[in-house]
Amino acid sequence: MNVGIIGSGNIGSTAAQHFTDVGHEVMVSNSREPETLADLVDDLGANAQAGTPAEAAAFGEVVMEAIPFGAYEDLPTDVLADTIVISASNYYPLRDGAVPLEGQTHTELIADYLSDATVIKAFNTMYWEVLRDEGRPDADPEERLALFIAGDDREAKEIVTDLIDDIGFTAVDTGTLAKGGRHIEPGSPIYTAPMTANEARTRLAALKTVVAANERGYYEIPRNITASELAGELDMSQELLSEHLRRGTEQFVDQYLQEP
Ligand SMILES: NC(=O)c1ccc[n+]([C@@H]2O[C@H](COP(=O)([O-])OP(=O)(O)OC[C@H]3O[C@@H](n4cnc5c(N)ncnc54)[C@H](OP(=O)(O)O)[C@@H]3O)[C@@H](O)[C@H]2O)c1
Repeated sequence: MNVGIIGSGNIGSTAAQHFTDVGHEVMVSNSREPETLADLVDDLGANAQAGTPAEAAAFGEVVMEAIPFGAYEDLPTDVLADTIVISASNYYPLRDGAVPLEGQTHTELIADYLSDATVIKAFNTMYWEVLRDEGRPDADPEERLALFIAGDDREAKEIVTDLIDDIGFTAVDTGTLAKGGRHIEPGSPIYTAPMTANEARTRLAALKTVVAANERGYYEIPRNITASELAGELDMSQELLSEHLRRGTEQFVDQYLQEP
């Protein structure tokens, strides 16, 4: 498959290396002249070339953007029409400046901007050195490390899932850009913690349950909903509900009690 990469720093170049290693053709790009990527192209080998962001966008059947979030309006909207775009960028206001989200998730904002592309959030939750070192194509998919994804298009998710599988990780689907996207933004208890696919599914289910319980007023005083009503609404046994709530609460507690 042809993969275009826009933003070829830590995360973009690491993903590019994995893709070329398994036989995909890659075009890398940054905000400067393609010649500035000559050393990277040498390292990536025969399956790689450099271009401008617009050339990488035109080249890729799938295009990954891995640029500073605040630069998202530099993405070549027209050329990315009808393309699957993997959005790996994360929004850190202190680093990226103020971006008015108006209640949207980070990736919904990018998807709105790239209105004719199909945007899938992926590769944003794994630290680049873990991505570089921990791919295990020969391992049982449930035992590989998870790469969380979110998106609104089933077929595009399948294509991205296959790419992730090719390079030795397992995609774990968190849901839509709106709901799943929120679960994998900075600050979430499952953000950047390396975990196997099996563990990732368990922790994601716990997180979703705690979020749903909160939305339905389970944590209000007095409670707006009983445990048994909540279990009914979420279509799960009370035993499973209490297991998810316990684990979900632990995740939040862990997040706040971590050593600095
Ligand atoms: N580092 C991680 O472990 C990690 C993990 C997951 C997600 N992320 C997210 O991925 C994004 C990239 O992170 P990174 O660590 O890879 O950053 P990085 O090493 O600084 O790389 C950023 C890349 O984007 C290019 N770039 C900057 N502005 C651009 C623009 N307007 N158009 C095209 N290319 C542009 C940079 O090259 P030039 O400046 O030369 O143009 C560079 O190649 C961030 O949003 C980050 O939050 C990072």
